[in-house]
Amino acid sequence: MFFDSHSHIDASQFDNDRDLVIRRATLNGVKYILNPGADFKSSVDAVALAEVNDFIYAAVGVHPHDVETMDEEMLLALEKMTENSKVKAIGEIGLDYYRDLSPRELQKKWFRKQLQLAKRLRLPVIIHDRDANEDVFNILKEEKSFETGVLMHCYSGSKELAMQYVKLGAYISVAGPVTYKNARKTVEVVEAVPIDRLMIETDAPYLTPEPNRGKRNEPMFVKHTCQRMADIKGISLEEMAQATLNNAKSFFKITD
Ligand code: NI
Repeated sequence: MFFDSHSHIDASQFDNDRDLVIRRATLNGVKYILNPGADFKSSVDAVALAEVNDFIYAAVGVHPHDVETMDEEMLLALEKMTENSKVKAIGEIGLDYYRDLSPRELQKKWFRKQLQLAKRLRLPVIIHDRDANEDVFNILKEEKSFETGVLMHCYSGSKELAMQYVKLGAYISVAGPVTYKNARKTVEVVEAVPIDRLMIETDAPYLTPEPNRGKRNEPMFVKHTCQRMADIKGISLEEMAQATLNNAKSFFKITD
C-alpha cells in the first residue's frame, strides 16, 4: 500500500476523468493521497476533494509562482480552512528562483508569513525549493519551522544538503525523476537518507516516472518511483511502500 504524499488531483488536467483516476489509484494500492494547494483556488478545491474522499487529505497554501495574488485577507482565509480536520499541512510554499514568476522579495515575504502561520497553528509545512537552496534553508531555520515539521517536496538538491535537513528532523520526498537515466544526484540522495526519513510522491499531473514518462502523471504511477527507491536501498517494494506510508502518516498526523 502506498502513500502518495504530493498529488494535485484538483488540477484541470483531471477535469474529464478525476473520479476514474481516483478509483484507479485505489485499485492499484494507493491507500492515501495528500493533495496540496498551489494557489487559493486549488487550496479550496483540495479541501473539497478531501471532504468527499476518505483517503484524500489536503494542505492549503500559495506556491511561490502565485504569491503576487496574496494579501492579509487571503492569509486569514487559508487559516480559516485549516479548521477542517482533513487539512494536515500548509503547502506547497517556498521559493522558486528557476522560473522567477514572482519578484524574489515578494516570494520571501509570503514564504515567511505562511511559515509563521503554520508555526502558530502547529501544522507541518510542504516545501517547494527550486534553485533557492540557501535562502529556503536559512529562512526555515530562522522561522524555527523544524519544530513543527518540514517536508522537502520533490527534493532535487545535493545529498549533503539532504543530510543537513535530516539532521534537523525534516523529511525528504522523492518524485518520478529518480526513475530517469540522468538521476545520479537523486539516487545519491536516496542512498544517503535513512529510510525513516523518506517519502514518495507523484506530483501528478507533472513529473511522470518511467515507463510512462511524457504522459500525464497520476497517483497509481507512484509504484514506479517506489520500486526504483526500493532497488536503490536493496529492499523489497513492499518494505519501501510500508516505510514511506508510515513516515507520511506520522508526519501528517493521520491516525485512521
Ligand atoms: Ni506540487
